[in-house]
Amino acid sequence: MPKIYVTDRNGEKHDLDADAGDSLMEVIRDNDLDIEAICGGCCSCATCHVYIDQEWRDRINEMSDEEIELLEDEQYYVESESRLSCQIFIDDKLDGLVLKVAPPA
Ligand code: FES
Repeated sequence: MPKIYVTDRNGEKHDLDADAGDSLMEVIRDNDLDIEAICGGCCSCATCHVYIDQEWRDRINEMSDEEIELLEDEQYYVESESRLSCQIFIDDKLDGLVLKVAPPA
């Protein structure tokens, strides 16, 4: 089972077990960390914004045009780190993934 390392909005670190096939957003939300994910993973709200550690950035799937458009409008957008966590799906290659939950918009 892949392990995901998440820093929450209070700066606390969490080691989370993640099931393959789940989205990163689901893993964060189901472990009761603070993330809104208002649209439920439909790529339409950007309230599941996270910062992916640089080391991992090239190992996850590419962003869709929709995801880029939503993120670029975000107040705390960081081009080299920002992703929508509902658009990243867990598999064994993501074991050890490091990320931070972005501030609320
Ligand atoms: S949960 Fe709405 S865009 Fe990710």
